[in-house]
Amino acid sequence: MKILGVSGSLRADSHNTALLRCAARHLPEGVELEVWDGLRAVPPYDEDDDVDPAPQAVAAFRAALAGADAVLFSTPEYNSSIPGQLKNALDWASRPYATNVLRNLPVAVVGASTGAFGAVWAQAELRKVLGAAGARVVDGEVILGHAHRKIDDGVLLDEEIREQLVGVISDLAAAVEARAAVAA
Ligand SMILES: Cc1cc2nc3c(=O)[nH]c(=O)nc-3n(C[C@H](O)[C@H](O)[C@H](O)COP(=O)(O)O)c2cc1C
Repeated sequence: MKILGVSGSLRADSHNTALLRCAARHLPEGVELEVWDGLRAVPPYDEDDDVDPAPQAVAAFRAALAGADAVLFSTPEYNSSIPGQLKNALDWASRPYATNVLRNLPVAVVGASTGAFGAVWAQAELRKVLGAAGARVVDGEVILGHAHRKIDDGVLLDEEIREQLVGVISDLAAAVEARAAVAA
């Protein structure tokens, strides 16, 4: 089972990208997680450019989503919401509406911030956007506040958060299996 990890941060030392890398260390047997690194290249959404063939970076994002069994998003919070570049990429991914690559795709959302609230509002907004695009949004969240103190050298120091992360991944894997069972 292939999970695509999508971080909403472009920052080299992003806590959200680090959280996805931590997730990759705690996967069940038979599950792999690849962190996508194409977010920066996605151009601003313009309906005039939303034609076939799509801009290269958009086509690459859509292909990465289409090739995944599930997606684990980790988002920072910018001004109580989702970073613009992540929302922009999802706007591209959400088209064409009826057949978009997110439709029925199991997805889960976690998040990290340096403040106390762990990107909780951004996570809620991201779930809303993903649901609007037709993704199967798995319940469960990881609210990693004070992230700069809780990940050290790729290791998630907070045991409770680690257990929550393992729980979200396990729910995501179960959603993939449930989807496959319905399709069979
Ligand atoms: C423009 C901007 C707005 C921010 N707004 C919020 C916010 O509303 N709530 C919050 O908890 N943190 C906020 N932060 C702090 C980020 O959540 C924090 O820098 C986080 O570590 C960024 O994620 P990253 O480490 O993955 O890059 C903001 C940071 C920036 C740069």
